[in-house]
Amino acid sequence: MATGDDNLDRTITGGTRILFVCLGNICRSPMAEAVFQHKLLEENHPSNFHVSRIDSAGTGAYHEKSPPDQRTMQVLRRHGIRSYMHSARKVKSADFTRFDYIVGMDSENVEDLQELRQKVAQRKKSEEGLAKIVLFGRFGGLSEQEEVVDPYYGDNNGFDVAFEQMKRFSAGFLEHLEGELVKQESQEK
Ligand code: 4NP
Repeated sequence: MATGDDNLDRTITGGTRILFVCLGNICRSPMAEAVFQHKLLEENHPSNFHVSRIDSAGTGAYHEKSPPDQRTMQVLRRHGIRSYMHSARKVKSADFTRFDYIVGMDSENVEDLQELRQKVAQRKKSEEGLAKIVLFGRFGGLSEQEEVVDPYYGDNNGFDVAFEQMKRFSAGFLEHLEGELVKQESQEK
């Protein structure tokens, strides 16, 4: 099972750019984007000043241009996140240079993303400047390999489970980014 690049260290200059990715970009990755964004903006999190771009996309194009699934929007609304809007899109080659982190929801997403990244690296003849691929669940504090199970074909409970994970993973990811910032600042002294 792939869990992404083990070396997460990266110098943050001009803000970190983060892309959340699932399969369809209508259930999990928009939820991840909305929860992470909410945590940054509504809680006035200090990392806010160092995250410059957040977006989400899917490895598949089944729902291109569709809004998020109603059940994702319901869960978000229930937790006070009302302003989120998104139009589904597929991951593209440019994402690997436009983002610092590409965050997959499950191991299949991570494997697909690693394959795409490899193709981009081959074309560029270099891996320099390409996004790091990580499994979101590695920031959850339980298991390095915790996945967000696709709730699309299940009942609404799957969306509640996913929401709890998004909150926990977002908090851990922000902690990680803050740690990087502290490291960078101490190196600059
Ligand atoms: P997501 O869920 O990857 O969390 O957006 C899915 C939504 C739609 C499909 C698969 C997964 N689909 O096959 O249509």
